Amino acid sequence: MKTPRSFYQPLAIGAPAPFRELPVSLERMIHFVPPHVEKMRAKVPDLISKVDVVLGNLEDAIPANAKEDARKGFIQMAAENDFGQTGLWTRVNCLNSPWFLDDILEIVPAVGHKLDVIMLPKVEGPWDIHYLDQLLAQLEAKAGLSRPIMIHAILETAEGVKNVEDIAAASPRMHGMSLGPADLAASRGMKTTRVGGGHPDYAVLSDAVEGSGRTAFQQDLWHYTVAKMVDACLSYGLKPFYGPFGDFSDPEACESQFRNAFLMGCLGAWSLHPNQIDLAKKVFSPDPDEVAFAKKILDAMPDGTGAVMIDGKMQDDATWKQAKVIVDLARLVATKDPDLAKVYAL
Ligand code: GLV
Ligand code: MG
Repeated sequence: MKTPRSFYQPLAIGAPAPFRELPVSLERMIHFVPPHVEKMRAKVPDLISKVDVVLGNLEDAIPANAKEDARKGFIQMAAENDFGQTGLWTRVNCLNSPWFLDDILEIVPAVGHKLDVIMLPKVEGPWDIHYLDQLLAQLEAKAGLSRPIMIHAILETAEGVKNVEDIAAASPRMHGMSLGPADLAASRGMKTTRVGGGHPDYAVLSDAVEGSGRTAFQQDLWHYTVAKMVDACLSYGLKPFYGPFGDFSDPEACESQFRNAFLMGCLGAWSLHPNQIDLAKKVFSPDPDEVAFAKKILDAMPDGTGAVMIDGKMQDDATWKQAKVIVDLARLVATKDPDLAKVYAL
């Protein structure tokens, strides 16, 4: 671990200094685009106005024989479009793949000035972050970039979960983390073929009572990992995200998974299908009634101290902070979403 004074030093002469505070940005959905498909690239200008983050995916789901086309396609879509306030991310191939190095070596010089975040899959420990951190600093210096590219880790191996706090602390370049339930299930030997969501067999049975049936209460398979990720991220000032939900035919279950993540502290989720964009928008924008109530709390306690009763509920310094989380998020959403801005009326 670096000493505090050197932690924020650039890792290469001429590289931009890392951010001390993460840029404020709305990231309710990270929308995945397969950049080797021309038809999909053609939709990017329209997507930019609909989503908070456009991500060019180079890793899993891109066939091995299309990896180079995906990389080229990403560079093309990054160069050809003006992303404005919408984030531009890429998910590169993992560190032990034959494609990772060229992903970074080609993308950073070509479009590094437009790239906000690199999503790094299958991060096992801080050493993975250190490697990419140093490499990016060298390439940023060489390309004369003035803004640092951030790193977002996917939490999707048992070892990564074991090391989650060290990953969060590894570099000031860290933006946040996403839960990767598919790879994580495989890595842990979990017995599910689903991509996120619950499983009917992961349940607790109600007590046996003579003469009545027993009810199985389904539990959340991801609760422990999401909680661990949220604590690691928030204690290091990073942003936690839920990752993919694979069953596109079950929007209700997707919404419920997204909502659990939102309530636990996550700021967004991946959208892999156009239907998931609106779901994420709905879930990760605070509920207007909650915003109105939170605003009441803030108005009733202008300096954030003391205790008041509102609608029969006790409010104090702690609930003031809870209310501020909701109102701050609503204000951020309002900057991007004129319809919700009207509803929130802040
Ligand atoms: C995402 O990459 C996952 O493995 O779930
Ligand atoms: Mg994965």
